[in-house]
Amino acid sequence: MTYTDQKSKRYTVTSALPYANGPVHIGHLAGVYVPADIYARYLRSAGEEVLFIGGSDEHGVPITIKARKEGVTPQDIVDRYHTIIRDSFKEFGISFDIYSRTSSPLHHETASAFFKKLYDEGKFIEKVSLQYYDEEVHQFLADRYITGTCPHCGNENAYGDQCEKCDKPYEVTDLINPKSALSGSKPVLKESKHWFLPLDKNEEWLRQWILEGHKDDWKSNVYGQCKSWIDAGLQPRAVTRDLDWGVRVPVEGAEGKVLYVWFDAPIGYISFTRQACGDDWEKWWKDHDTKLVHFIGKDNIVFHCIIFPAMLKAEGSYIMPANVPANEFLNLEGNKISTSRNWAVWLHEYLRDFPGKQDVLRYTLCSNAPETKDNDFTWKDFQLKNNSELVAILGNFVNRTLVLTHKFYGGSVPAASLDSWTETEREAAADIATYPERIGRSIETYRFREALAELMNLARLGNKYLTDTEPWKLVKTDAARTAASLNLSLQICANLAILCEPFMPFTAEKMRRMLCMQQQGWHTAGSTTLMAEGTQLGTPELLFEKIEDAAIDAQMQRLEQIKQQNELNNWQPAAVKPLVSFDDFGKVDIRVGTVLECTKVPKADKLLQFKIEDGMGTRTIVSGIAKFYPDPQALVGRQVCFIANFAPRKLKGVESQGMILSAEDRDGRLVLLSPSDVVTAGCSVG
Ligand code: 2FM
Ligand code: ZN
Repeated sequence: MTYTDQKSKRYTVTSALPYANGPVHIGHLAGVYVPADIYARYLRSAGEEVLFIGGSDEHGVPITIKARKEGVTPQDIVDRYHTIIRDSFKEFGISFDIYSRTSSPLHHETASAFFKKLYDEGKFIEKVSLQYYDEEVHQFLADRYITGTCPHCGNENAYGDQCEKCDKPYEVTDLINPKSALSGSKPVLKESKHWFLPLDKNEEWLRQWILEGHKDDWKSNVYGQCKSWIDAGLQPRAVTRDLDWGVRVPVEGAEGKVLYVWFDAPIGYISFTRQACGDDWEKWWKDHDTKLVHFIGKDNIVFHCIIFPAMLKAEGSYIMPANVPANEFLNLEGNKISTSRNWAVWLHEYLRDFPGKQDVLRYTLCSNAPETKDNDFTWKDFQLKNNSELVAILGNFVNRTLVLTHKFYGGSVPAASLDSWTETEREAAADIATYPERIGRSIETYRFREALAELMNLARLGNKYLTDTEPWKLVKTDAARTAASLNLSLQICANLAILCEPFMPFTAEKMRRMLCMQQQGWHTAGSTTLMAEGTQLGTPELLFEKIEDAAIDAQMQRLEQIKQQNELNNWQPAAVKPLVSFDDFGKVDIRVGTVLECTKVPKADKLLQFKIEDGMGTRTIVSGIAKFYPDPQALVGRQVCFIANFAPRKLKGVESQGMILSAEDRDGRLVLLSPSDVVTAGCSVG
C-alpha cells in the first residue's frame, strides 16, 4: 500500500533505453536509473506489484556511423555496448525485472505489428517528400548522416534532426549548409516516400490530457516543455527513414526503409514486457488500474509525452502514462557531460577505481540529482558526501551501536522494558514512527533528494540519541537505562536498514546481515520493536570507509588530461590576418644566420641569448624559447631565420637586435625555423 495513491493495482515503471553506442556514465545514472530504481524498489518494499523495464536502444544512425568508422557491422557495435551497459546496471544494483534489447526478434515483430496495425487502419499520412541524398555514395541521408549549422543557435556542428548545443529539434531541411557525414559532400534533395504520424490531429486531446489534466502532478519542467510544444502547434512527424539498420517497414513499396528509431524504441517497453511476462503481458499496458510511469532525461520529454502517447492513442487499446518524471542534466566539474569529448565518469571505470562503492555513487547522485535544474557533479563533493555524511553520520551510528552491543551484551539484543523509557525515548519513538510515511510520500511524488535527506535525518536522530544517552557511561551506574539506550539504537538501525534499501541496496543488505534481520517490508518500519530481545547479532563491519585525497586527486588529474587532449583535438589554425601588399611584405628583411653562442639569460626563465653570425658580422638576439630548448649549447652551429631589420629593444637588460623566427605548435610549443639545407649566413629569405 502506498501513501498517496490508493487506487493503482500495479505499476509499470520504464526507464529510457540507452543507445548501445557507448558505455553509460554518471549522467545516465543520476538522471534516469537511480531515481527509477529507487521508485521500483520502494514500491516492491511497499508490497506493490511492479514491473521495472529497461533495455538497450540498438537502432539509430549513430550506431551505423560508429560501425562504419570502425569497419565493423552495427550488430557488432550493439553487441559490444549492450553487454557493457547491462553489466554496469547490474553492478550498480539497478533492479530491472527485464533488461532486453531492441535488436531482438520479438521486438522487431512487436514494433512491426504495431506499425502495420496503424498502417492498415489508415492512421498514417503517406507523403512523398524531399530527402537529402549523397550522390557520391548513392545513399539517402537520415538525420545524423547530415551535419550543418543549427537554424536556432548557429552551432556549426549540429546534426540533421537535433542540435546538441541548444537541444532543439528541427526538420533536416531547415539545417543551414548541410554536409554529408559519409563523404563530406553537399547533399542534394531527392524525392522519397515516407509515413507520417499526424500529430496535428492529436493537439486537442493532448492539450486536455496534459495541460488541463496534469498541471498539478507532473513536474514543472515536463509540463512546461509540453506546453510550449503544444502551444507552438504540432506538425505531422515522419516515422520511417531511408536506412538499412532498424526495423523494416512492413509494407509494400518500402524497400530500403526502416522505422524511425524514435518510433520503434518506446515500443521496446512493450516488447520487453511481452518477453518478461509471456501471455500475461497485457495487464501491464492495457488495464486502467495499472499506473504507467516513464523515467527519462529532459531531452526525451517530447517523445514520451507527445509522440509515444499519440502512437498509443492511435493504436487504441493502451493506457496513457500517469507520469513522466524527467530530470534535467548532470554536468561534470562545471562542463556538460559529453561522450565524444570523453568528459564523463564512466560507470565501468568508476567500479574499477572504487570497487565495492556503488552505494556511495548512488547516494551522491541522488542527493545531488538534477530534479529541477541542471546540477554539477564534482569529485570534491563526492568525497565530502562520503566522508562527512555516509561515514560520519550513518556509518558511525550503526557501527557505534553494534560495537557497544557486542561489548556490553556479547552481541545479543538487550531487553528494554517500557519502564526504563524516559521522555527522551518516548519522543524519539514518536519521531521514528513518522519516517516511513514521510520518505514514502516524497518518493511517490518523485522528490528523491528530499526522501534521501529525510533518511539521513533518521540517522542523525540515531546519532544524537546515542550521544545524548551515553550508554558507555550509563553501563557503570544503570543497567536498565543502558539496555534501553542500546535497544532503541538497534531499533533505529533496523529502521534504517529497511528505509535505506531503495537508495542504497548494498548497504541495506550489509545492515540486515549484521542485524540478522530478514528482508522486511516498508510498512513494518516506524516501529521500535523490530529487533527482538536476545537476537544474536553478526560481526560489526564498517558500512563506509573514508575516501582519501589521493583517490580524488587521481580523478581530477584524469579529467585535466582529458581537458588538455580535447583542447589539442579541437585546435584550429588561427584566422588569416588581413592581406598585405608585395611592397609591405618587402619591408620585412628576413635572413638566415648561424648560431655562434647560445646561453640562458640570468634571472629570466624564458629567455635565451643568441650570438648570430649574420654574414656582415655578429649580432645579439634574445628569444623567448628557453622552455623548449633546455640545452642551449646544443643550438650552437645551427642555422636560424631571423628578422634583420626588427627595431632593437632591451630584454632583461640585454639589447636584442632582431627577432628569431619560430613556429608555435597546437600545444603551444615553439619550434625554431631553420633552412632544410645549409646556406650562406646572411642570405635573404623571401
Ligand atoms: O535518448 C536516448 O538515449 C534514447 N535512446 C532513449 C530512448 S527511450 C525509449 F523511448 F526507448
Ligand atoms: Zn542549436
